[in-house]
Amino acid sequence: MIRLGVVGFGYRISGLINSVMQSIAPDLHVVGIVDPNEQSARTRLADCDKENGVFYKNLKEMVSKAKLDAIAIGTRCRLHTPIAIEAAQYGLPIFLEKPVSVTMKQATDLEKAFEKSRSPVVVSFPLRVSPLCMLTRQYIEEGAVGSPEHILGVNYVPYGTVYFDKFYRDYESTQGLFLQKATHDLDYMSYLMGSNIVRVGAMWTRGRVFGGKKKAGLTCSKCREAKTCLESPENRQHNMSGGVSEDHWCVYGVDCGNPQEGMNEDSSSALLEFASGVHGVYTQVFYSRRDSGQRGSTISGYQGTVSFDWFKNELRRVRHHAPFSDTIKADGNMPHFGGDLELARNFINVINGTEKSKTPISAGIQSAYACLAANEAAMKGKLVKVRQVGQS
Ligand SMILES: NC(=O)c1ccc[n+]([C@@H]2O[C@H](COP(=O)([O-])OP(=O)(O)OC[C@H]3O[C@@H](n4cnc5c(N)ncnc54)[C@H](O)[C@@H]3O)[C@@H](O)[C@H]2O)c1
Repeated sequence: MIRLGVVGFGYRISGLINSVMQSIAPDLHVVGIVDPNEQSARTRLADCDKENGVFYKNLKEMVSKAKLDAIAIGTRCRLHTPIAIEAAQYGLPIFLEKPVSVTMKQATDLEKAFEKSRSPVVVSFPLRVSPLCMLTRQYIEEGAVGSPEHILGVNYVPYGTVYFDKFYRDYESTQGLFLQKATHDLDYMSYLMGSNIVRVGAMWTRGRVFGGKKKAGLTCSKCREAKTCLESPENRQHNMSGGVSEDHWCVYGVDCGNPQEGMNEDSSSALLEFASGVHGVYTQVFYSRRDSGQRGSTISGYQGTVSFDWFKNELRRVRHHAPFSDTIKADGNMPHFGGDLELARNFINVINGTEKSKTPISAGIQSAYACLAANEAAMKGKLVKVRQVGQS
């Protein structure tokens, strides 16, 4: 039996454990939980864990009493760093949600804590380990593009309303959508390029589509405009435009923040310089809907171009100097494009000591450094150097 202790047994981590980790390792059980909202967390326990799951006051007590084999951290963003720093001292394998840090102080503190820790960490970056990304990396390693000279990453998010009608609207919690969203993309793009991002220029557009002057806490059920508003549950359902179909907070509310004091972006883009000397571009758009969803990259070099899109589940390879082009279709409709399954498999193998982490803490921190640089670049309108893990 694998004895897992969870700090923050919320929506994301419970789904990952109950539906994915336990499908791979039926002997994995949640034996301990630290969560101030015990009542709600209890409802998320899988049937097989209803009896095993004991709630503890804090991580220290859980580690001392629950005989854990591993720890999973699934709290919201701002707590990832302090909890991971505490967990680092116990030497157990850790599964850590992203973004690993939301400020530079958090990121440097986290880096310091793990310099001395024996704990292997699997950071929750499903995209990097998704089969389509892994195949793209294999093609690049086999010389499909020659030396990678450029990358274009796009992310047209068809469920972007979640960043304005759920808790993610709280800027204090997200610190913007580079940290919240692009942390995945900048990570897998560096991985594909085989090179860290060293300098970033960035721009964002905020408060033009979402956000606004509607009163704080307003929900559709209390709004007189629900009949005509495209974001009401009725109209989302009628138009099949996606997003939550229950009563929800107004995406035009003052509590989405404002550009002066901070708010999530309608769209944002970054110009990236890699340590290898080449550059790339990343763009994310949050008001996209329905079939406009697109997420993936185009990587090119003198010998060829490879591009993939997770929504189409397809990879295309063009040879520049031979009359052949291939399109590879990937199977399946899996959570996070199959990445969650690979993440879970990797975490279980790390616990069993048969594999190294494919998304180590250094990857999580390096991506946070790149996202923090993007925030600063967008704020100041200038190119910003990205701090590197290991830099004193
Ligand atoms: N890797 C991915 O692809 C992915 C996908 C979705 C969400 N996420 C991340 O997962 C995180 C959690 O999101 P969620 O939707 O599950 O949120 P959630 O609110 O459902 O879960 C958070 C849980 O933490 C608990 N909590 C609050 N304070 C705590 C504390 N001091 N100690 C212990 N537990 C505490 C809450 O009661 C709740 O159960 C976010 O940081 C989000 O960015 C990652």
